[in-house]
Amino acid sequence: MPINADTLRNRCAEEMAAAARGFGDASWLRDSFLTVPREHFAPTRVWWPSPREDGLYSLIDRDERPNAWLKALYSPGVALITQMDDGLVPPDGPGKGALTSSISSSGVIIELLRHLAPEPGERVLELGTGTGYTTALLATRTGPGSIVSIEIDPVTADRARQNLDGLGLDVHVITGDGELGHPAGGPYDRIVATASVRQIPQPWLDQLRPGGVLLAPLDSPFGCDLLVRLTGAGDGTGHGTCVAQVDFMRFRGQREPRPYAELGWPENARVERWQDLRVEAGPHRQQIIAPAPRLSLAQSRAEGSAA
Ligand SMILES: C[S@@+](CC[C@H](N)C(=O)[O-])C[C@H]1O[C@@H](n2cnc3c(N)ncnc32)[C@H](O)[C@@H]1O
Repeated sequence: MPINADTLRNRCAEEMAAAARGFGDASWLRDSFLTVPREHFAPTRVWWPSPREDGLYSLIDRDERPNAWLKALYSPGVALITQMDDGLVPPDGPGKGALTSSISSSGVIIELLRHLAPEPGERVLELGTGTGYTTALLATRTGPGSIVSIEIDPVTADRARQNLDGLGLDVHVITGDGELGHPAGGPYDRIVATASVRQIPQPWLDQLRPGGVLLAPLDSPFGCDLLVRLTGAGDGTGHGTCVAQVDFMRFRGQREPRPYAELGWPENARVERWQDLRVEAGPHRQQIIAPAPRLSLAQSRAEGSAA
């Protein structure tokens, strides 16, 4: 018997409402989630995100297994893979390759948008359009003509455009390198990346209005990406904190590993709590700053008497 997508969407929303990292008090986000049909954005054939024992990723074909496809789509923690090896692996069976595009999991996107906290009418720049699903959630909040979204992969960008047009959403999708942003559409009130970086690209900070918010997953020595929320100063710098642990695919231009010290991480980052780190980024370099070590009572007395 076919499962109803509306029923699954409602159930998924209930699960996310109960989760600590769910909608929080952002009722607009719950409304957007319930309004946007996620199934409209997923391709007919997707790969399950964890490999089988033989190392291959199973394909879920909507035409063959419609219920499994829909259930996977509405599992809050599941990102379904829509592209491998930048499109070199055809979606015609179990596959193997680098995971290069997806429809992000509902859970992570809700978390991202809750921290982004866009307001109606604000101008938003999104980097890494993918299927256009996140873009659609954003567009239902900020309104027509308010979003510029950049996707580097031409086939993916075309599909996203069609997906968004199909729902009558007025969004400007650009095929190009999101690391460069889109100065002509700025300055932006909010900038959000749904792929991760090792270094925050300077054009994003340059295109953020003073007081604007930049949210991006940053590769970290903690074995995951950290979601960084920066406030723009209006002079090409931004400062803020890490707000969540996440895992995203990397921006194409930032796939190459680089030493963390070169990327502004303190040597002792791994022994710090990620929640206590501060992040500063700007034209000179990014810096992740650990809090000064707390002195014991005996140490502070000794320091005091030495002064
Ligand atoms: C995790 S997917 C985004 C999924 C999207 N949030 C969704 O739910 O459909 C990341 C996307 O970033 C794109 N990407 C990678 N490097 C990029 C770049 N330099 N500029 C723009 N997009 C890029 C990939 O092609 C991929 O589609």
